[in-house]
Amino acid sequence: MEDKINSFLEEIKGITIQAEEEAEQFRLKYLSKKGIITALFDEFKTLPPELRKTTGKILNELKQAAEAKLVEAKAVQNSTSNTQNSKLPDLSLPPDPINLGSRHPISVVRKQMTDIFNRIGFVVSEGPEIEDDWHNFGALNFPADHPARDMQDTFFVESEGADKWLLRTHTSSVQVRVMENQKPPIRTISPGRVYRNETISARAHCQFHQVEGLYIDEGVSFADLKQTLYYFVQEMFGDKIEIRFRPSFFPFTEPSAEMDITCLICEGKGCPVCKHSGWVEILGCGMVHPNVLDNCKIDSTKYTGYAFGMGIERITMLKFRINDLRLFFENDMRFLSQFKSVL
Ligand code: PHE
Repeated sequence: MEDKINSFLEEIKGITIQAEEEAEQFRLKYLSKKGIITALFDEFKTLPPELRKTTGKILNELKQAAEAKLVEAKAVQNSTSNTQNSKLPDLSLPPDPINLGSRHPISVVRKQMTDIFNRIGFVVSEGPEIEDDWHNFGALNFPADHPARDMQDTFFVESEGADKWLLRTHTSSVQVRVMENQKPPIRTISPGRVYRNETISARAHCQFHQVEGLYIDEGVSFADLKQTLYYFVQEMFGDKIEIRFRPSFFPFTEPSAEMDITCLICEGKGCPVCKHSGWVEILGCGMVHPNVLDNCKIDSTKYTGYAFGMGIERITMLKFRINDLRLFFENDMRFLSQFKSVL
């Protein structure tokens, strides 16, 4: 049997394969299920054990040689067919369309929002998403163990030692960082991602985005706050939209308010989205609490200021009539590609 194998080995070495059909014939003759090598392997199984070692070795060599020949033949064919045959790319064909990516709707609206505030002198500032207790709560006048901390379900980051780290629950933490590092007048806008331990639904998510506004100077009043927000709403949604303020509570502002705008879906007539009130809430705001100014080493007898914070998802949903918050985080191309034309 060894002689037989050796003669096939010589035979294979002597073969040159050129055309595609020749390669296929070669494969059928030697390597297919009914080919010579398969038959030799069957015969090999009948050999007495003492012969198997040496015969097995050359039989494997034969198989490898046949396979190598075929691979080599394919490689030669590929390189020649590209240069010689008609398989050159046809340069007269129209090109494949280049799919331009699109911006995420949240990015689109964040940019619109910061642009609107940039135009009236607010500059963008950013802060970390992993915060300490002081910047997220303490400096913002949340007393330790005060129920106000329960207003926001916080994700704590496991940490060793005394420092307590958390994922910021609001962008108000950036207010503190700016006030600690800058002197009034301060006029800043802080977009960013925030986290809350909430059950995910069409209306709530454990991560979302906010834009925070802060203005500190001498003689800043609630009237300035109202006018700024009115300007924002008109720029964002058009001049038919009205605003209204409702008294509210935040530990870091006094007085505090929440602001509603005319429901864009029913134009104030009443619909399920606005629960038939004609109004939808879009933000929280108020005059910066003197304790917060003091905590940040700003003289609260000299300066006053206002702050506001709003969810970008909420504004985006109103603007594009999106009814499920989860769509923003699922990366479904059927949803995202609809924002192609909006820059
Ligand atoms: N931080 C508040 C929230 O997340 C919003 C807010 C910001 C309220 C600034 C007042 C002033 O709900």
